[in-house]
Amino acid sequence: MITDNSMAKLISATDNKNIKSAVEEAVKLLRAGEIVALPTETVYGLAANALNPDAVAKIFKAKGRPPTNPIIVHVDSIEMAKKCVKKWGALADKLAQNFWPGPLTLVLEKSEIIPDIVTAGGKTVGVRFPSHPIIVAVIQECGFPLAAPSANLSSRISPTTAQHVLKSLGDKIPLIIDGGECNIGIESTVLDITTHPPRILRPGLIHQESLSAVIGGRVIKSDSIESSAQNLKSPGLLRKHYSPNAKLILEKWNNEQELGKIIERYGCERELTHILTISNPLPNNTYGKVIIMPKQAKSYAKALYSELHKCDEEGAKWIIAQYPPETSEWHAVIDRLRRASTD
Ligand code: TXA
Ligand code: MG
Repeated sequence: MITDNSMAKLISATDNKNIKSAVEEAVKLLRAGEIVALPTETVYGLAANALNPDAVAKIFKAKGRPPTNPIIVHVDSIEMAKKCVKKWGALADKLAQNFWPGPLTLVLEKSEIIPDIVTAGGKTVGVRFPSHPIIVAVIQECGFPLAAPSANLSSRISPTTAQHVLKSLGDKIPLIIDGGECNIGIESTVLDITTHPPRILRPGLIHQESLSAVIGGRVIKSDSIESSAQNLKSPGLLRKHYSPNAKLILEKWNNEQELGKIIERYGCERELTHILTISNPLPNNTYGKVIIMPKQAKSYAKALYSELHKCDEEGAKWIIAQYPPETSEWHAVIDRLRRASTD
């Protein structure tokens, strides 16, 4: 029996030998209506049987997630996705053929089998066929879809390693499968295809231009962190989200003098301030830490949450992040930095 005070069991599944037994343990718990943290290619997810409302309720409880925030349903095939939605049209098929398995969540009208708790009472469901072999093997073995939000306390940074999950949810869940570091590092693109034109509710690695190219038509972006109507549509888009404990400041600067002015303006104590720079090497001695981030959006995204987790662990009080270039590849990174910088 799992008591409330026990720590999660951590099972390593980073080489072929131990994957099978890790999958078996996860499946056993999921079949019994328990929750399990699993790696995906984006971030770690906290999974439950999507068809079992009592199991899904445990996710909300462990995360402290508001009941108004719907959860993505993970499937192992287009066939399984079709069972979760009312109507699987040509557009869904085209997107799935091009981007699945992978970091794209499609929002469609839900079918009867999806309980209301998963969709926060709404008529639509987000479905995603992930590409990480562990979660796919678990879904296949279970034979049912898995509801899984990111495996972090509500409104905190998503986990990209099993250790991140252990730290935030270790005393609230029975099992974490360690599949190593997540390859993508930020959450999936959420695309609502119940509207015309389709609307990006949350930007991700698969960006507006790639979606448009495949659809052969317009795709619109929500100004995700602004309108309150939109927040109701996808509560994960609330302004305050993905936050580190430190205060994150997102600003543009071209040289150290400009950075100095930012530090002054915000009243940061230099030795407690960590800098996430993209372009400028800075002498390391006057700041808490200088982190040189990758110049490619994809590699930057992979490193971002891990660096933010580290800043928190190392006691940073301020994090000053240099504003990335404003091209579509960077859209998801800018979105996460802007939300993390909101008070
Ligand atoms: O990459 C990901 O998507 C990860 C991994 C675990 O798959 N999952 C994830 O889940 O980020 P979560 O719950 O942390 O974020 C899901 C986002 C939230 O913003 C939620 O509001 C939105 O998707 N969402 C889920 N179902 C929705 C629906 N039916 N309509 C609109 N938005 C929805
Ligand atoms: Mg999340």
